[in-house]
Amino acid sequence: MQTAEIRRRFLDFFAARDHTVVPSAPLLYNDPTLLFVNAGMVPFKPYFTGAETAPFDRAVSVQKCVRTLDIEEVGKTTRHGTFFQMNGNFSFGDYFKAGAIEYAWELVTGSQADGNYGFDPDKVWVTVYLDDDEAATLWRRVGVPDAHIQRRGLKDNYWHMGIPGPGGPCSEIYIDRGPEFGPDGGPIVDEDRFLEIWNLVFQTEVLSAVRAKDDFDVVGPLPSQNIDTGMGLERTAYLLQGVANMYEIDETFPVIQKAAELAGTKYGAEHEADIRLRVVGDHVRSALMLMTDGVTPGNEARGYVLRRLLRRSVRSMRLLGVHDPVLPELLPVSRDVMQASYPEILTEWARVSQVAYAEEESFRRTLAAGSQIFDLAASRALAEHAETISGEQAFALHDTYGFPIDLTLEMASEQGLAVDQAGFRRLMTEQRERAKADAKAKKGAAVATEAYRTLRTAGEVPFLGYTDLTAETTVRGIVADGRLVDRAVPGDIVEVVLDETPFYAEAGGQDADSGLITSDGLSLDVLDVQRPVQGLVVHRVRVEDGELDTGARVLAAVDAAARAGACQAHTATHIVNATLRQLLGQGTHQAGSYNKPGYLRFDFNASGALSQGLQEELEGVANEAIRADYEVTATEMPIAQARALGAQAMFGEKYGDIVRMVELAGPWSRELCGGTHVARTSQIGLLSLVGESSVGSGLRRVEAFVSADAFDQLARERALVSGLAELLKVQPDQLTDRVAKLVAQVKAAEKEIADLRARQLLGEVPSLVAGAETVGRFQFVGKALPGTAADDLRTLAIQVRDAFGSRPGVVALVGGAEKPVLIVAATSTARDLGAKSGVLVGAGAAALGGRGGGRDDLAQGGGTDISAAPAALTAIRAALAG
Ligand code: ALA
Repeated sequence: MQTAEIRRRFLDFFAARDHTVVPSAPLLYNDPTLLFVNAGMVPFKPYFTGAETAPFDRAVSVQKCVRTLDIEEVGKTTRHGTFFQMNGNFSFGDYFKAGAIEYAWELVTGSQADGNYGFDPDKVWVTVYLDDDEAATLWRRVGVPDAHIQRRGLKDNYWHMGIPGPGGPCSEIYIDRGPEFGPDGGPIVDEDRFLEIWNLVFQTEVLSAVRAKDDFDVVGPLPSQNIDTGMGLERTAYLLQGVANMYEIDETFPVIQKAAELAGTKYGAEHEADIRLRVVGDHVRSALMLMTDGVTPGNEARGYVLRRLLRRSVRSMRLLGVHDPVLPELLPVSRDVMQASYPEILTEWARVSQVAYAEEESFRRTLAAGSQIFDLAASRALAEHAETISGEQAFALHDTYGFPIDLTLEMASEQGLAVDQAGFRRLMTEQRERAKADAKAKKGAAVATEAYRTLRTAGEVPFLGYTDLTAETTVRGIVADGRLVDRAVPGDIVEVVLDETPFYAEAGGQDADSGLITSDGLSLDVLDVQRPVQGLVVHRVRVEDGELDTGARVLAAVDAAARAGACQAHTATHIVNATLRQLLGQGTHQAGSYNKPGYLRFDFNASGALSQGLQEELEGVANEAIRADYEVTATEMPIAQARALGAQAMFGEKYGDIVRMVELAGPWSRELCGGTHVARTSQIGLLSLVGESSVGSGLRRVEAFVSADAFDQLARERALVSGLAELLKVQPDQLTDRVAKLVAQVKAAEKEIADLRARQLLGEVPSLVAGAETVGRFQFVGKALPGTAADDLRTLAIQVRDAFGSRPGVVALVGGAEKPVLIVAATSTARDLGAKSGVLVGAGAAALGGRGGGRDDLAQGGGTDISAAPAALTAIRAALAG
């Protein structure tokens, strides 16, 4: 029976018994206490607690669930899945134990021809809570023999959410899979043979604190006696489909088959490989379902779970020998089998696949960068017969290569190594504290000095610049080097506070205005404008002409052209924000921004690089918004109202009670913003995207030019293209082809050179061996070959070693392009006499300023200083002689 059919039967059975069919809630349900929806009852919780009145007495659902506690167990057992579906029927103060038990019995054991599941009644076992005689009696009444009714305590037969909330005793239904799966004796003896398929919870109590599964405080009864059941759809499917575990059902097995095909293996051929294939089958589907429901990979809580699932899938495939990208092969298979039950997978597919593939790409880069370092650390540990990878190495992997600790743990355990986790955590804490101290020190520089506070007591400095670019006003005070002074003379750089100002102080990503402050004979160039304390605007100026005195009347005039540019850039920033949310989803948020005339940059959360296609789309949609000539308005309103209107705010930013909301074409873009803007978007003219980059884990940055700067940039690019086209003597539209051809030619030539080199090197083997020196009991070839690549060195070392035949030969070669590489190899005769490559390489690498390790017959090391090559060879000679 197909999984979709099992699901349909469940819904039909209860719908026919007056249950309202409720569609699955998304996995990211609006419950801050949960990472993901993990039980069918989650969306109904308020009905159980009485916080809300249930709109129906009875409900039935098949709920998407994710549980990630057992992520390491996935694949190893028959019944741990991260994503699963829970069939559930619910009664809100309507039927109780009798109804729940009778329905369950009928559906489980009723004939398949009548729409039930048709399990053999003799194979059914049940458990009830210790003193729940009522449930036991009811089971007996439907026909379960006494011998198949077992009683268990709180740990097994009481259900709660693991957090304060509803709970109650429960009764579980098990299917006996047969003696080949374990001992007799029912579920209290073996839960692998006796597989739990359905839990009937009698939701009756309110829990105030939960310390453990069987340790919690009950404060009283729920307002009504309720039923909450959960039947594992995957478990039921694997029993009804006669397969060995939940990974082999029709909704996951196709992914396993595809994975096996990619790996060139067959599922079932090898135990370890099967585990990995099952991990892939489980994780790919879970990731698909999470992404469909709006989760993006990241470094915090939910995003991190998803990232782990995706990365573990990729790693499992690598361990199966597949090094090419795998998600583009596997994810569509999962989509195809899941979309019938969850059509949203198709509507979200473009976004989901893009995010997933980007995450794989970024993980591949992480792996490429860090794997060598990891391998070196691991081989060193193994060579030194150590059992752990040090905290320093784990930290370096994390800090420099973005290896999350659990990846290091996993990779280490595959090599039989542990990781010094305490050391790792200590270094992480130290780093965090350093960062905190840094942040504090920076803030310290900006704290309001006494001088600012004195000037602020005279009142707030009104900002006139939303409407006026000039103001006649009075110099309230002058600050030089943090102190109040009365005057400043030409050449001085001081801070000036005016009674009111048209100058915009840098805030909300918008750079400060520039301009002049003048009066008769006085001219101040405004270099920067800041707001060091709430309500106080400070202009940093250079005195160009005349004397500046406190109390002087001055004309403050903003550079109108620069301001117009600032407005263009700031409105364009809002357009980019709204466009990114349109393209990447509403889960995209501004993480920072900066704009100044002609230029903007915008940081946001994203799972990976914006693809070329998305960048083009971003630019296209943003320019459409510019051409659409949207009206830009700013309105002040209470924060609650702005929130209700969906205005975007910067996370972590503090806003007052009254906020300013800037809108573009009404709801097209709404942001809380104190900045200055153009009146209509067409005034921006043009936006041209110049780059996309990473600014931290899970954070991307886009940069763009606007207006004339955008045009200039495009003009420069066009000039570049025509210059190249001329140089290569092709039409501009043939440039790509031409360059691709050239690159291919260069590559082929490089390869040819490398082959020649290698052949030339190998030609030297006989003379090298013939020229071997005698060091102690050994024949030694030591040579520096600067510029020779590590691979070639290794090949050469092996050839020399082998050419020694049965002689006690040792070869040490130093080469490498930018960084020195040292290879040591020893013949078996030499090894018997005590020459161990792994040890020798350590001695040599130390001289090169690095470390190395490896096997006795062949080992590799590295360093930092190629000029020490002779010293490294001397060190090896010394080690051999001693
Ligand atoms: N809420 C119960 C469970 O998740 C049915 O097992």
